[in-house]
Amino acid sequence: MVGSMMRIGVLVSGSGSNLQSIMDACERSEIDARVCVVISNVPHAYALERARQKGLPSVVVPHADYPDRASYDRKLVDILTEYRVDLVALAGFMRVLTPGFLRAFSGRVMNIHPALLPSFPGLDVRQKAIDYGVRFSGCTVHFVDEGVDTGPIIIQAVVPVYPDDTEEALKERILKLEHKIYPKAIQLFAQGRLTIEGRKVFIRDYEKDESLCLTNPFLNR
Ligand code: GRF
Repeated sequence: MVGSMMRIGVLVSGSGSNLQSIMDACERSEIDARVCVVISNVPHAYALERARQKGLPSVVVPHADYPDRASYDRKLVDILTEYRVDLVALAGFMRVLTPGFLRAFSGRVMNIHPALLPSFPGLDVRQKAIDYGVRFSGCTVHFVDEGVDTGPIIIQAVVPVYPDDTEEALKERILKLEHKIYPKAIQLFAQGRLTIEGRKVFIRDYEKDESLCLTNPFLNR
């Protein structure tokens, strides 16, 4: 962003730990942007308290107050426009956005998902990963398109999965990485380093490491 600092609007429904990691990263200048509004569809989401503690504006827009998705999303667009938001970050926002919303913020909506997409889209994905018996899962930051968890991938991070894992243990393991990769993805966007071409996201000045390799179990023990 040239000139003024990029403005982020964060959409939440729950605890808001990802919101926290984004706000903290902005405060530490690890993201060249600031959160200018937090919107929740759930009135008592703890995320709202986190915004309050940072002195940031928050707005509750209960979805039950709107007759349909289109009118709900128009309200969201109005608020985000009013706050002059450049990037919309979904952080545990439990609603699918309409094409109308996505047109208004084309290429400027990101989401974080607690699995290695395209594996395990949708809900309850940590338990599904454990039940499937995969050796790895992780998290994915992606641009949002009209599907559910289908948009172009920006960053993924990998954690091991063990057959005797509890959902809670895997959730914690994945969340730690969510809190690292979401701020990083937003900073790449703020630096203007991301280009979407079809399904792919190209990152300017991207350091490759072709020796990067991980197995579970280890090969040498
Ligand atoms: C995270 O697991 C995220 O991957 C998913 O929703 C959860 C939100 O957690 N999209 P929090 O509200 O950020 O703590």
